[in-house]
Amino acid sequence: MEELRVGFIGTGRISDLHALEYLANDRARIVAVCDKNYDLAAKRGAAWGVRPDRIFTDYHDLLALPDVDLVEILLPHHLHYQATLDAAAAGKHISLQKPMALSVQEADEMIAAAEKAGVIFKVFENFIFYPPVQRAKALIEAGEIGDPLTIRIKSNSGTSPNMWDVPPEAWAWRFTQEQCGGGPLVFDDGHHKFSLAWYFMGLAEEVHAWIGATEIAPGFVLDSPAIVSWKFSNNRYGSLEVVNSPELVLDTQHYAQDDRIEITGTKGVIWVTRGHGKMMDVPPVVLYRDRKVMTYSDMPVGWEHSFINSTRHFIDAYFAGQPPSLTAWEGREILRFALAAQESARTGQAVRL
Ligand SMILES: NC(=O)c1ccc[n+]([C@@H]2O[C@H](COP(=O)([O-])OP(=O)(O)OC[C@H]3O[C@@H](n4cnc5c(N)ncnc54)[C@H](O)[C@@H]3O)[C@@H](O)[C@H]2O)c1
Repeated sequence: MEELRVGFIGTGRISDLHALEYLANDRARIVAVCDKNYDLAAKRGAAWGVRPDRIFTDYHDLLALPDVDLVEILLPHHLHYQATLDAAAAGKHISLQKPMALSVQEADEMIAAAEKAGVIFKVFENFIFYPPVQRAKALIEAGEIGDPLTIRIKSNSGTSPNMWDVPPEAWAWRFTQEQCGGGPLVFDDGHHKFSLAWYFMGLAEEVHAWIGATEIAPGFVLDSPAIVSWKFSNNRYGSLEVVNSPELVLDTQHYAQDDRIEITGTKGVIWVTRGHGKMMDVPPVVLYRDRKVMTYSDMPVGWEHSFINSTRHFIDAYFAGQPPSLTAWEGREILRFALAAQESARTGQAVRL
């Protein structure tokens, strides 16, 4: 059977969830890993069955291997641009974690490099593959709420005794503008929320944002609280509220955060009631229509399933010769959307896309 041979560039916090489907899927195999932290690369490599002579600290060594078909680039944001150019020059297909770059100009150069090299280039986005989100989309497409008019997304972070370990180095670059490209909540994690808005409503025409600033430790300023509002085509609107509540204790196995979505249509309302965690003790998808409440619980709700589904979709698309989601062009549009919010918050003006 034909096999997709994968090399990981960056084996930090998120790499565990990327590995899950590659390890489970008969048509894919992780064949090499690289991290500038050798011990980390060796630990993950051993756990994923990678040969010791295929564990690197310089990703150029991994790119030189002829039997790597695809690279998963899981690096801090400021390194996405060069690593993508190098991977394309080495003729590797590319799956790049979001956000694809720090600027639209970088994104355009990356797309041009991948097109010139004739390699597949996708931006990894998992929230649109979260099973409750996919169920809500299917219900909307089946006409259950009529025509969608508005979307509200709420993202609430706090603290948790059972959250996973995030090493201090993984936070440090997120609080550095030149490395992250924006704040940890509205730009980094926010990419997922802009993707959700795009997934349900299409690309916005106009964006307006207030992004607050809260110092949570000396030198660490969180971009919270924040409100971003969007105008979509055909008289449709949306908003994102981001808030960190330092003493809000959450139940999660991943980040100490939870998300909710509410979409209102011409004849009904649908809610996705959870994301990273489980704040509200209600079914993951709830639909109101015609004086009735319908609930949907027959789906996996662990956040890891969004990664498993996203990777499985990509492996299927790869072997079927179909475009992946997100294509690099879609990733570019979502980056443009997210950057518009940063610009609006800076200038105090609405930004037209
Ligand atoms: N989809 C999601 O929900 C989600 C969640 C977390 C992170 N992410 C994204 O995943 C990416 C990585 O984030 P993370 O949380 O794993 O960060 P991290 O800091 O935990 O991991 C990054 C790794 O890259 C390594 N590294 C840095 N420079 C390197 C270089 N030049 N060569 C080789 N290795 C190098 C670091 O040693 C580190 O282990 C980012 O794009 C982030 O936005 C996405």
